[in-house]
Amino acid sequence: MAHQPDALAVATQNRADEEKRRVALAAAALVSDGMVVGLGSGSTAALAVGAIGQRIRDFGLHIVGVSTSSATSQLAIREGIPLVTTTVPTRVDLTIDGADEVDPAMRLIKGGGGCLLREKIVASVSTRLVIVVDSRKWVGHLGETFALPVEVVPLAWPVVQDRLARLGGDVRLRLAKGGGSQAGPFVTDEGNYILDVSLGPMLHPEELGAQISQIPGVVEHGMFLNMATDVITARGEEIEHIQRETITGVTGTTVI
Ligand code: 5RP
Repeated sequence: MAHQPDALAVATQNRADEEKRRVALAAAALVSDGMVVGLGSGSTAALAVGAIGQRIRDFGLHIVGVSTSSATSQLAIREGIPLVTTTVPTRVDLTIDGADEVDPAMRLIKGGGGCLLREKIVASVSTRLVIVVDSRKWVGHLGETFALPVEVVPLAWPVVQDRLARLGGDVRLRLAKGGGSQAGPFVTDEGNYILDVSLGPMLHPEELGAQISQIPGVVEHGMFLNMATDVITARGEEIEHIQRETITGVTGTTVI
C-alpha cells in the first residue's frame, strides 16, 4: 500500500506553503521600475518570480531580470520578465532568493536545489539580497538541520570527498532525482557535481567555509556569510521583514 502522509505533516506543509506565498508577495513588492533584479531559485523564489511577473502585467513595470538557474530562466520567460541572457552584470539592484537554513546573524545555507554557484555570484553583486523563507528555515547554528552543499569539479569529487570527510563531515555525492538505484550524479547548470556534507551545528562557519574553499576541486560552497541584507519570514501569524544594517549588524524588524 502506498505511504499516506499523516494529517500533521499535511497541515505543516500547508502552513509552510501559505507562509512561502506571503513572504514571496512581500518581497516582490520591493521591486520597482528600472531595477536590475536577481531572480533566485527554489520553490519560494519561484513564487516571488511569479509575483514579479504579475506586477509587470498589472503596473507595466520595466525591469531586467538576472536568473540564477535554468529552471528560473524558463519560469521568468513564461512570466514575461526580460532577462540578461549572457553573463552576470557587475551590479544588481535587488535579488530575491530562498534559503535552506538561516541563523540569527542572517548567515545562510543554500544549494538545496543545486544552484548555489550562480546564486552566490548574483548575490555577490547585489546591493540588496532579500531572502524569503518560511518559519521552518530558522536554526540556532548553520548545519543543524541541513547538509552543506559543496559544488565540485566532477573529476575531483572523490578527492574533495576525502578531504571533507577529514574535516569531520559525513559526505554524500548528490544523485540525480528519479533514477532510482541506477541514478547517476546530479549535474549542476554549470556541469559540476554536488557533495552534501553533514557537519552538525557549525560554531565557526567563517573558518570552516575558508577551509572548504581552499580544497583543490571545490568550486563553491553553500554558506552565504555576510551577504543577506534582508530576510522576509513568517513568525506566528505575522510576516516580518528583518533588515540588516550591513556595517553594524542586525538592526530593524518590521511586521508587515
Ligand atoms: C537552491 C536554493 C533554494 O533557494 C533553497 O534550496 C530553498 O528552496 P525552497 O524555497 O524550495 O525551500 O538555494 O539552490
